[in-house]
Amino acid sequence: MYDKKRYQEYDELLRFRESVKNHKQILKVEDFGAGSRIFKNNIRKTDEILRHNCSTINKTKILFRIARYFKIENALELGTSLGIGSHALSTAQPKALIDTVEGSKEVSQFASERLKNHLNVKVHNNQFLDFLHSDQCKPKYDLIFLDGHHDGAATVTYFNELLKHSHDQTIFILDDINWSKDMNSAWKTLQKHPRVTASIDTFKWGFIWTRPEQRQQSFHIFL
Ligand SMILES: C[S@@+](CC[C@H](N)C(=O)[O-])C[C@H]1O[C@@H](n2cnc3c(N)ncnc32)[C@H](O)[C@@H]1O
Repeated sequence: MYDKKRYQEYDELLRFRESVKNHKQILKVEDFGAGSRIFKNNIRKTDEILRHNCSTINKTKILFRIARYFKIENALELGTSLGIGSHALSTAQPKALIDTVEGSKEVSQFASERLKNHLNVKVHNNQFLDFLHSDQCKPKYDLIFLDGHHDGAATVTYFNELLKHSHDQTIFILDDINWSKDMNSAWKTLQKHPRVTASIDTFKWGFIWTRPEQRQQSFHIFL
């Protein structure tokens, strides 16, 4: 988490972000869950989506380091938006297979187009639960990034479904665990979930492991 090394690939993360920023479009965004605190309608400019809905450059660097450190071979991202998170995973592990799921058609088309040179990334235009129940979903993922539909009850439902697609060493990353009271209470529920052993609260992101050899412990760190 605190690795201060300046990886050469960070330039590529910045370049991709710039290319998304400069490729201005207006997209129709469908709302599948907790809605937005920023946008009042569903017609949105991509540079505004980038500013308000996508992983920050610091988060993408952490995602990059985690994927590389754990040498992930496959990953699932629920919530593609403009493709910033999947691009970081793909850059970290170019041979890993990355499934990323986005419900909004125009948003997923935009991400697919931007990521078309990243052949290891597959953008699925689907709702999260439909994807998890489909045969497109792999049996096991090394890393699962839940970054969308910030509703407490939905988050717990997704987590229970995602457990079926995890193994003992899978890393779960949950975004915005303190976005609302409801999300914070879902996070607390998950920390005590019988399958959860280690959890780390970094305020913005929550990390979860289900390694059976570990007793249940919760940690706080500040990023
Ligand atoms: C916060 S953004 C994802 C950001 C992205 N992971 C990144 O790293 O930049 C969340 C996305 O999830 C999508 N989404 C939310 N709930 C969904 C659902 N139930 N099914 C499919 N997509 C959903 C939204 O349309 C939105 O584009």
